[in-house]
Amino acid sequence: MALTIGNITLSHDAVLGPMAGVSDLGFRSLARSYGAGLTYTEMISVCGLNYRNKQTEILTTVAPCETPCAVQLFGHDPEDFAKGVRAEVIDKFDIIDINMGCPVQKVVSRGEGSALMKDPSRAADIVRAVKEGAGSRPVTVKIRLGWDRLTAPEFALAMERAGADMVTVHGRTRTQFYQGSADWDAIAEVKRAVNIPLVANGDVKSADDYRRIKEVTACDGVMIARGAIGHTSIFAEVRGADVEVDLKKDFLFQMDMLSKTYSDHVVCNLLKPHLISAVSGRAGAKEYRLKVGAAKTTEEIKAIIMTL
Ligand SMILES: Cc1cc2nc3c(=O)[nH]c(=O)nc-3n(C[C@H](O)[C@H](O)[C@H](O)COP(=O)(O)O)c2cc1C
Repeated sequence: MALTIGNITLSHDAVLGPMAGVSDLGFRSLARSYGAGLTYTEMISVCGLNYRNKQTEILTTVAPCETPCAVQLFGHDPEDFAKGVRAEVIDKFDIIDINMGCPVQKVVSRGEGSALMKDPSRAADIVRAVKEGAGSRPVTVKIRLGWDRLTAPEFALAMERAGADMVTVHGRTRTQFYQGSADWDAIAEVKRAVNIPLVANGDVKSADDYRRIKEVTACDGVMIARGAIGHTSIFAEVRGADVEVDLKKDFLFQMDMLSKTYSDHVVCNLLKPHLISAVSGRAGAKEYRLKVGAAKTTEEIKAIIMTL
């Protein structure tokens, strides 16, 4: 099913969630090759965007296959957002997403991420500031169910009134972090409260989960994050495609995509967490982890991939 966000229509309504330390260009490209309708960068602080540094450059580089592409910004000051969204590195993005869901203490203690759910008026000012800087590009917001109780229905409506073109809801409160299971019934309440497209998120690990979350929430799209780690083919499965996964081929593709953009050293570091999660739970995983950790060049990484 297609999903329309403002003036952009995605080829499919299943999208890859932003994940810090995971959603790099290689992983995103692999998810796109299996049919993900949209990919997001990991969360990027609005404060550093106007200063060109290596890390910002790594985080904001996108692959040609990522059309359309979304950047996710975080911060707490509407003025920082107004400046950040106008930074040159943001020009190439088709969709601007605002993080209002990150539960990490370091982030919320600065009033960023899910802390914004406690301050709807500041959150609305941020949406207005980003909208103004984004021009005709859609602006979306990613939230949780609330801080410590369900406030997402009224919060999402306030973001819509401030100009948001879509809301994604992770079906947990900030207090829950990642504990328990995502409350899809509560996401359904948020869907009923808004008129803009709503993307449901939380605990989708299979094509069957994808079908069920759509049924329960009546959402317009589904975001898959952890369920795609080591299982990017989930995006083909939700399309009903019969896929045969070749892990070696996938990792070589991922490495190739990264090598086109980054130095050997950066490619190694970006690939390591993916290689480690691919074998977790398998016999010999510990030795393998040590081998991956010790690798210093893509040649060494390639040799490890060939043993998968
Ligand atoms: C390692 C990791 C990093 C994450 N980083 C981000 C991030 O940068 N921005 C964001 O909005 N959500 C982030 N999330 C949350 C996911 O996008 C998603 O909302 C959450 O994991 C629930 O969905 P899932 O059950 O499909 O994983 C992260 C999650 C994980 C596990």
